[in-house]
Amino acid sequence: MNTEDMKKAVAVAALDWVQENTIIGVGTGSTANCFIDALADSNLQIEGAVASSESTAERLKTAGFDVHDLNATGPLSVYIDGADEADPNLHLIKGGGGALTREKIVAAASEKFICIADASKKVDVLGAFGLPVEVIPMARSYVAREIVKLGGDPELRDQFRTDNGNLILDIFNMQITDPIALEQQLNQLAGVVSCGLFALRPADVLLLGNADNSVEKVVR
Ligand code: 5RP
Repeated sequence: MNTEDMKKAVAVAALDWVQENTIIGVGTGSTANCFIDALADSNLQIEGAVASSESTAERLKTAGFDVHDLNATGPLSVYIDGADEADPNLHLIKGGGGALTREKIVAAASEKFICIADASKKVDVLGAFGLPVEVIPMARSYVAREIVKLGGDPELRDQFRTDNGNLILDIFNMQITDPIALEQQLNQLAGVVSCGLFALRPADVLLLGNADNSVEKVVR
């Protein structure tokens, strides 16, 4: 099974968590896109979706789903999204696509967070993938200096603005042995909008696609 097939397999497996006639949260990225395709191909009827990015909103609309403003929905039944890395505690690094802040908001507003990923995303310790941090533009240099004090190497993501009009600093060369503590430290820096660590609110279920065609389910 290649990576694309693994993404499709976990996307189909995630349909089991979709409650019909509710509004669901949908993430961003190639695996989340596979989920939108799988949902469109299924017979499941949902009331609509809240998107974690402009690109996901477009894809949902093209597939025929109603896209709602989170301020008008109340709690969402489930949030389904991919990840860049997942550890055994279902702590995640997300934000490779730059949508981390909206992803965090939609995950926070959802009763369950189902993370879908191919096997390459499973790690013992987070940090090989650069950890994205969304920053207000005027805080870029200040936040970068503070990240160096925390032991990381920040790099400004080239030619990139988030859907919220902000910048991304990717943190490299950090072994994240205490993701909850690091998420709290980064959250407290003035000018940080959010960071791509999902440890304070981890996934509830991780569906991992393996090369042998199986989908592994890890429940927290
Ligand atoms: C986007 C994300 C994605 O979920 C993450 O980057 C994984 O993407 P993909 O499914 O394409 O591997 O956090 O901001």
